[in-house]
Amino acid sequence: MRTIFPTEKFREIETPFYYYDVDLLRKTLDEARDEAGKHGNFHVHYAVKANFNPKLLEIIKEAGMGADCVSGGEVRAAMNAGIEPGKIVFAGVGKTDKEIAFSLDAGIFCFNIESVPEVEAIERLAAERGVTARVAIRVNPNIGAHTHSNITTGLAENKFGINYEQLDEVIDIVEKMEHIKLIGLHFHIGSQILVMDDFIALCGRINELQELLLETRGLTLPHINVGGGLGIRYDAPDKYNIPDFELYFSTYAKNLKLQPGQQVHFELGRSIVAQCGSLITRATYIKHGTCKQFIIVDAGMNDLVRPALYEAYHRIENLTSDKADGMYDVVGPICESSDVFCKDRRIPETERGDILAIRSAGAYGEAMAFGYNCRELPKAVLSTEL
Ligand code: LLP
Repeated sequence: MRTIFPTEKFREIETPFYYYDVDLLRKTLDEARDEAGKHGNFHVHYAVKANFNPKLLEIIKEAGMGADCVSGGEVRAAMNAGIEPGKIVFAGVGKTDKEIAFSLDAGIFCFNIESVPEVEAIERLAAERGVTARVAIRVNPNIGAHTHSNITTGLAENKFGINYEQLDEVIDIVEKMEHIKLIGLHFHIGSQILVMDDFIALCGRINELQELLLETRGLTLPHINVGGGLGIRYDAPDKYNIPDFELYFSTYAKNLKLQPGQQVHFELGRSIVAQCGSLITRATYIKHGTCKQFIIVDAGMNDLVRPALYEAYHRIENLTSDKADGMYDVVGPICESSDVFCKDRRIPETERGDILAIRSAGAYGEAMAFGYNCRELPKAVLSTEL
């Protein structure tokens, strides 16, 4: 039986809900801040898309992080949490006029631009307001990360960023714009990356590109944004509850060749919030099939879509049984065959009413929940509220 959860208190709460361990979140933030802080020119922007729960955003803000946003709604959420606009970056291939105008009026730090029509829209809206927009060009580094194909972003075939062959032309266009100031280059190769070699490969690409831009155009930009992507250990959430930020930041410090005064920006999402969150659910029924036993829980793919969408692994623990293991598929109540959290998993023998924790669900869990089958969105409970 597990003790890291306040299981007795969980018995009184209607399930499903997301539970966030605030102590662990704070420790994770401290570690990330301290390790980044060892390198005077490193700045971390929390990727709001991983979890935009306002209570968590406030805690993240207290740790001094900036924000990486991908919609006007996220820019607003970051600002509502008190994150200064001067620490907000805004990425995404499809920024609308309304989102751009809102972000210009707020005075955000930088737009990560992904196409010529987009920067034209920013130029027009900045001109109308008599302001200058700071932009970084998102470069597609054409690097495949060792991760699921649905979350690889840095390949030429992906919709993201500007390809190498087009870069010169785009810089020419941007440099001529009166209301645009080119301040940096932005990269992002994918998510849930645990192999440092992928980040080393990215550093290599950035170094080559910086040399080329210096040689051919005499261009040095003050900001290099390397994106996010640091993965977490879904298989061992207690043993590895805080990602190895020391290794991550020192990998960049060692491998990135910077020019004097250059600032490095990171957009970390998953590594900050994943391990502090669990989806807490109750077994509604145990169903004995002919070849399978199912634990039917009251959480569904609408509450946590990662297993259905990416075949993602999450540890599942029965918090209220210490019986011998049985072999189960854990499934939700939704009318879709993909509404499965795990198959053929060893879990202590489970009864109707038992409480289960689906671990490492703090990132891309609550944030990706939806209301299919007229289901209510999952609630959130912080450890400090119990
Ligand atoms: N920066 C950019 C430009 C991104 O596209 C992303 C994530 C991040 C930063 C943050 O990456 P992180 O540090 O969290 O790996 N829903 C998927 C993950 C999608 C990631 C999208 N982009 C999942 O549940 O695995």
